[in-house]
Amino acid sequence: MNRVFSVQTLRRIAISTLLPLATFGTTLAFMSVPPNTRGIDLDSGGELFSVHCGSCHFAKVGFPAHHGPNLHDIGNTGALRRPNQSAAEYILESILDPAAYLAPSGRPGMPANVAAELAPEEIRNIVGYLASRGAFPDYDEILGLEIPDRRSAAAEPTLVRHADMELAERVLREKGACIQCHSLDNSPEGAVFAPGLFGVGLGNAKAVRDSIIDPHRDIHPRYKMATVLLASGQIVSGNLVSRDDDRLTLCTKDSQNRLTMKEISLADIEHNNGQPVIKESQVSLMPEGFDKSLTEQEIDAVINLIRQLN
Ligand code: HEC
Ligand code: HEC
Repeated sequence: MNRVFSVQTLRRIAISTLLPLATFGTTLAFMSVPPNTRGIDLDSGGELFSVHCGSCHFAKVGFPAHHGPNLHDIGNTGALRRPNQSAAEYILESILDPAAYLAPSGRPGMPANVAAELAPEEIRNIVGYLASRGAFPDYDEILGLEIPDRRSAAAEPTLVRHADMELAERVLREKGACIQCHSLDNSPEGAVFAPGLFGVGLGNAKAVRDSIIDPHRDIHPRYKMATVLLASGQIVSGNLVSRDDDRLTLCTKDSQNRLTMKEISLADIEHNNGQPVIKESQVSLMPEGFDKSLTEQEIDAVINLIRQLN
């Protein structure tokens, strides 16, 4: 027979072209239907995220890591962080208990109180929003997550009132003279006498309080004091600011309690077995007794102010 296409060939052509087209069309139609989020409001979650988390996190491709990692793919990578935890569970844990696990790309510093002002349903919307970054989450699972209400009177205050701000500033400048030693930024020039206070408050409030009222307990390694025995018999102690082959610089307090830099030639230091006698001491240059000289209200105000510096 002289037909160009047999019926079978035509049927085969029809199946091999029309079927994929039909499947493609159905997929397109399906994709344009928004997913059923089971009442979880992703738009509201996104807005809450930018208000409560946006000072530290981006959730968009191409943006840099901020204080915290970029979360644009967390719906996907979140499921790989911890065994037996889905991405949504991991995200929820990160919000409620940030110290439970340190993100591989991150540095510590996610505050423990981010959930203190959020209602459980607001947290759920944030979890939904983040779980949908880089993945199609199971909204039924998110709907079923148990989220405690942390908005209690016991929640640590995160906002500084204007009056408290003024009180804190008086302590920093006058009553505690904190800024005699501490800068409020984190520039290297500001960190000669003492660590800059910028970012210190990203951790928890208790650690900041401990540093203020009990400075000798946990001394910052870079600011250990050194005690030097001079050949003259005099003993000098202070922060070891720098040291080279023939001299060292100590930051010490003078008789009026002012900070001064003291250069000492290594040749003037008593030697033992050919080595200059320089002892590391276990005290901090940071004065003791702020728990007595400052009121409870002043200490709280200063801690709150420090915690805003980031
Ligand atoms: C003051 C800064 C800061 C704020 C505000 C903050 N975070 Fe974080 N966050 C961090 C840092 C730093 C890390 C990395 C260290 C860690 O894992 O604890 C982190 C880690 C995370 C992680 C884990 C990331 C990963 O790759 O595993 C999630 C999820 C997260 N944050 C969610 C949130 C959400 C949601 C909010 C708001 C409700 C929020 N964060 C507010 C600083 C912050
Ligand atoms: C005479 C200098 C001096 C004064 C005044 C001073 N500090 Fe300090 N402070 C230090 C030094 C040095 C350190 C680091 C050694 C240490 O950890 O004790 C430090 C540590 C700290 C830390 C911990 C920082 C960190 O990175 O862990 C905090 C918080 C702090 N000071 C707050 C204050 C406040 C608030 C005041 C005022 C009420 C104050 N300091 C007054 C010298 C001082």
